[in-house]
Amino acid sequence: MTTTLKSALKLALVAAAFSGAALLGPAFADDDEGGEGGIRAVTNETVKTECSACHMAYPPGLLPQRSWQALMGDLSNHFGEDASLDEPVRKEIEDYLVANAADAGGRSIRGLKADQIPLRISELPWFTREHGSKLIARAKSNPKIGSISNCAACHRGAEQGYFEDD
Ligand code: HEC
Ligand code: HEC
Repeated sequence: MTTTLKSALKLALVAAAFSGAALLGPAFADDDEGGEGGIRAVTNETVKTECSACHMAYPPGLLPQRSWQALMGDLSNHFGEDASLDEPVRKEIEDYLVANAADAGGRSIRGLKADQIPLRISELPWFTREHGSKLIARAKSNPKIGSISNCAACHRGAEQGYFEDD
């Protein structure tokens, strides 16, 4: 089965589980930059391979540099999993994530204090505001989704950096 078909099936299941919520959208971002509502998807092949074994490879632009450094500095203790990598691979991934982080090039992040080091995209202020506690709780209790961290279960274009629903 192709990936596209698989995710289309998955989305149909999600749509059924969340009837009412409009989650269908274009499967791909308009361009590599992600366009409007889009977030630049992972372009580094090592990251694509190594960071998608257990969940989708999250776009680097969704967390600040200090978060990626903290995550990449403690991979043996990664949300209850051991995601350790050999040093050259680990370093390549960290360098890519940091170079493409939300605050790379001096950009600032809204609603985040300088001393906060979030380890989850799903705990950022904009994220919880956008999704709401009810949806987050429903994602967790739905066995077909498992957790709000499973972006691609609801956002069909997530792996291409596309999260908007219309
Ligand atoms: C061995 C499995 C495994 C691998 C490999 C792995 N992760 Fe994870 N990761 C997890 C688990 C489990 C969670 C928690 C998911 C949840 O709460 O549903 C997680 C969560 C995350 C989160 C937070 C998601 C959120 O809720 O916002 C980030 C960021 C993350 N991983 C980055 C990475 C990066 C970067 C890599 C590659 C270096 C990686 N992961 C490789 C298992 C893994
Ligand atoms: C249970 C389903 C579900 C999951 C899982 C989920 N989302 Fe969402 N997400 C939504 C819904 C519903 C909206 C609101 C759509 C709207 O009103 O435009 C949304 C909105 C968004 C938006 C704003 C899009 C816009 O209109 O600008 C972003 C960005 C986003 N999600 C990213 C993520 C990321 C990253 C993850 C994984 C860490 C994730 N979502 C997981 C359902 C989900």
